[in-house]
Amino acid sequence: MSAVLKIAPCFAPMQPEDIDAVLAIEQDAYPFPWTRNNFADSLAAGYSAWCCRVNGVLAGYAVMMLVVDEAHLLNVTVAPDWQRRGYGMLIVHHLFGTARSHGAGRMFLEVRPSNAPGQGLYTRLGFAAIGRRRGYYPTGDGREDAVVMAADL
Ligand SMILES: CC(C)(COP(=O)(O)OP(=O)(O)OC[C@H]1O[C@@H](n2cnc3c(N)ncnc32)[C@H](O)[C@@H]1OP(=O)(O)O)[C@@H](O)C(=O)NCCC(=O)NCCS
Repeated sequence: MSAVLKIAPCFAPMQPEDIDAVLAIEQDAYPFPWTRNNFADSLAAGYSAWCCRVNGVLAGYAVMMLVVDEAHLLNVTVAPDWQRRGYGMLIVHHLFGTARSHGAGRMFLEVRPSNAPGQGLYTRLGFAAIGRRRGYYPTGDGREDAVVMAADL
């Protein structure tokens, strides 16, 4: 339950030198993780990318693309050891504030139908399903749809 959160995190823009630590978490957290190039390209493209640290320890991170008045949440991850302590909520709230300050009025994302923690987090934050992308994600033996979700900011 998120109410067990005790320590406030610090948010800092992700830097190229953070990618090693981010990748270590990414590879722990996903069966199909982003690659080093996915993160490096996101930074090079100027996406809004954030590290979330607790007492100096990287607990999670997120990457968001801001396009005119829309925000697209591309990656939000909490390290397995830090999950279920409210940090996922805090990271997305940080993104909401950043997106609003850039003039975005809506945030979009894709999530696997099989990702109960992801869908639980997003629903709790006010996202609603608005569609599906067929065969969007790889699986061990084929492809899986994406649920497209959106929230007003
Ligand atoms: C999804 C993720 C970011 C959630 O982060 P978190 O810090 O554990 O989430 P929080 O502690 O802030 O939880 C907030 C709410 O999300 C939902 N939630 C979180 N984990 C859940 C789980 N395992 N099962 C169901 N709901 C869950 C709950 O509603 C929870 O509120 P509650 O704890 O009061 O019940 C985290 O599980 C993660 O990094 N998973 C691997 C990467 C991933 O799937 N990212 C999303 C890709 S679309």
